[in-house]
Amino acid sequence: MMFELTEEQKMVRDAARDFAQTELKPGVIDRDENQLFPAEQIKKLGELGFLGMMVDPQYNGSGLDTVSYVLVMEELSKIDASASVVVSVNNSLVCYGLQTYGTAEQKEKYLKPLAAGEVIGAFCLSEPEAGSDASSQHTTAEDKGDHYLLNGTKNWITNGSSASVYLVIAQTHPERGSKGINVLIVEKDMPGFTIGPKENKMGIRGSDTHSLHFDNVIVPKENRIGDDGFGFKFAMKTLEGGRIGIAAQALGIASGAYELALQYAKERIAFGKPIASLQAISFKLADMAMEIEAARLLCLKAAWLKDQGQPYTEAASMAKLKASEVAMKVTVDAVQIHGGYGYVKEYHVERLMRDAKITQIYEGTSEIQRLVIAREILK
Ligand code: CAA
Repeated sequence: MMFELTEEQKMVRDAARDFAQTELKPGVIDRDENQLFPAEQIKKLGELGFLGMMVDPQYNGSGLDTVSYVLVMEELSKIDASASVVVSVNNSLVCYGLQTYGTAEQKEKYLKPLAAGEVIGAFCLSEPEAGSDASSQHTTAEDKGDHYLLNGTKNWITNGSSASVYLVIAQTHPERGSKGINVLIVEKDMPGFTIGPKENKMGIRGSDTHSLHFDNVIVPKENRIGDDGFGFKFAMKTLEGGRIGIAAQALGIASGAYELALQYAKERIAFGKPIASLQAISFKLADMAMEIEAARLLCLKAAWLKDQGQPYTEAASMAKLKASEVAMKVTVDAVQIHGGYGYVKEYHVERLMRDAKITQIYEGTSEIQRLVIAREILK
């Protein structure tokens, strides 16, 4: 068993670490406070190849492995989880789905610009009444021969207004249940497609989350990914990889907060010495470090399994469940270690604490991850 990263993986991780410090850190508080999408930073991430990390170079991707993706997600998320969720959705849900299941024409037309970061994508599964119960789709894609007629509403869509390409899950044959669902590639300027107002969120406030409305949108048949009725499986398969990305995001939020708490504890003097030398604080730091390492190993194991072509359903859910719980606990403790300073924006940990919460909700709540793990171990 090897625990050593390759030289390439270390180089990619270091590039992401530098980028986070030099490009994401300045302005991160302002973007959070004013809900500003990190457009300039996302453009640069695209130029660096971080938006199509695992895509074949033939389609403008970087041709890297999932382990490298986890390393990048951790580094970016230490500083700015609003930027890293854009990276995660574009890589895991949109590019992966198109690369794995798209036609040659779909890859040429949509994957290439997405992988190059020229445009970004969105994954549209959730609805006002379909969150955890993902097969209960009310959005309909009526088969009209050479096209589908798309009607309905999607909720909580990451990259809702900044995306140009949307993978929309919709029901075509309600009588077939989850086997009647399709996934369609929708372009932003298709008539009948409108974007609702931006959600005012607790965390990841720089990322743009919107409802989307489809009113008799004509989507050509060639924009369907996979066979008729493949949409639900498509969503489940892409979400498995997505869960590794969000697990790595949670890991980064936790390790970012831990690094700040560690530094603060070494510098802050109370009772005549650095608070890090007080057992109340040093034990907390020890627990934080241990839990983060456990989460990191689960993330890397899930990524490694995926890279080896082995099943990773259970590993991805375990990584996401563990890392998101660690993110929540560690960020709360990081605020506690900072005392009053932790409660103000300049010290960053309060933002990381708010950002941590979403990792227990999106791409499947903690309850859904437990359900997936239980199904896998009981089958
Ligand atoms: N891989 C392949 N096929 C799968 C699968 C998987 N991982 N999971 C289920 N399926 C298949 C099943 O095998 C079944 O097909 P067969 O009948 O041919 O066997 C079919 O799909 C239906 O499966 P289930 O009966 O198990 O489906 P279910 O309705 O019980 O739901 C669930 C299962 C795991 C709860 C699923 O609904 C789920 O994952 N819910 C959570 C949804 C989610 O994660 N949403 C996140 C939104 S996206 C997002 O958050 C992005 C963002 O903004 C950052």
